Amino acid sequence: MEPYRIKVVEPLLRVSHRVRMRALEGAGFNPFQLPADCVYIDLISDSGTGAMSTQQWAAMTMAREDFSGQHAHQEFVRTAQEIFGLPYVQPVHQGRVAENILFKLLLSPGKVVLGNTHFLTTRENIGAAGGRAIDLPVSSAPFCGDIDLKLLERHLASGSAGLVIMTLTSNIHGGQPVSSDNLQAVRRLARKYRVSLLFDASRFAGNTYLLKELTNAKGSLTTLCRKQFSLCDTAYMSCKKDGLANIGGCILTRSKQLAHELTHEIIRQESFPHAGGLAARDLAAMSAGLQEALDPHFLRSHIESVRYLAARLKEKHVPVFEPVGAHAVTVLPERGGTYAAFAMAAAVFLDSGVRGGVFGTAYRLALPRRVYTRDHLDHVAGAVAKVFRKAPMRLKCTHRPGKFFNFFARFALRH
Ligand SMILES: Cc1ncc(COP(=O)(O)O)c(C=O)c1O
Repeated sequence: MEPYRIKVVEPLLRVSHRVRMRALEGAGFNPFQLPADCVYIDLISDSGTGAMSTQQWAAMTMAREDFSGQHAHQEFVRTAQEIFGLPYVQPVHQGRVAENILFKLLLSPGKVVLGNTHFLTTRENIGAAGGRAIDLPVSSAPFCGDIDLKLLERHLASGSAGLVIMTLTSNIHGGQPVSSDNLQAVRRLARKYRVSLLFDASRFAGNTYLLKELTNAKGSLTTLCRKQFSLCDTAYMSCKKDGLANIGGCILTRSKQLAHELTHEIIRQESFPHAGGLAARDLAAMSAGLQEALDPHFLRSHIESVRYLAARLKEKHVPVFEPVGAHAVTVLPERGGTYAAFAMAAAVFLDSGVRGGVFGTAYRLALPRRVYTRDHLDHVAGAVAKVFRKAPMRLKCTHRPGKFFNFFARFALRH
């Protein structure tokens, strides 16, 4: 069961079918463009959508706002050093800022970046720095987040690689774990070919939990987490996911030189480095969030909720990707043509007010942390299954953006 009780509640508001239809048309049938106050249960993202704890709210209230030298900054640095074991810590206001700054500093134009699976913004920021992202995933369970080591070595040996990035967990299919054997092998190859190894560790806690569960690894989650981070040169994360904050991120590195260069970039484009583009209260929420992120009771409850939703969907004959990941269930729509996932997202929203997201060809139900109960998830499973049984909605694309198709594409009903 959930390892907390509920102190503040937010009413769920349900607008009528007519209002949802109008909202859907206005949004070009793209769930990312819907006004959120028309949404009944929102599973479009687990990013920045979690509920904060009493400790986080208390820390935010206590935090003093100063231009530089904030206590909240010192506290955040100490917390991150303790959890991850890397000496230099630079807060930033989002994960993608970390990507943008790091790739400009670390990547030479023309080089490729090899990874298990790059997130959308990671790929774009690599491109903006003159590089090219290459995904080398494997698909063998249970560690579906691993990188293909043979292909990795082939690319590294060609001399074209500027960086290797391992995303923990792999965002594909709802948070697939990366094994420690794979991480260690990647570390060896990166050393051999003298290429820096970076972690995109936005979902480090889910990866640590699944690693322990799948391998029966000895030691606490904190010890296992530090072991993983001992393998990278530099790591960055969005603290809006496993960090349990509504905003924020950070860069962690062993390189004094890089840490120094980061302060220059941060002051040029974000704020004084002690703030990292954040208010002190946000830094305080991040510190408290990181301290809670590896709580085994919370992680078990969160990941079991994801599995619960998947099981309810499967019971109702809705096909989901398995093994189920740590933060989301991905539904694989079988009918509905080229835009089947968008059609599914639109039809479920229209019928029930439940919003899921679309990534590639999958309809994704991501679980905000500590927000929804299993009764809510029963409702979601029922709503998705009802739509799944009906004739699919058919959509035609009316606006095809040059980039970020899933966020900005627009559709209309095909009659
Ligand atoms: C794996 C991964 N990396 C990086 C990011 C970017 O982080 P942010 O949303 O804080 O900019 C995301 C966001 O969803 C992500 O899932």
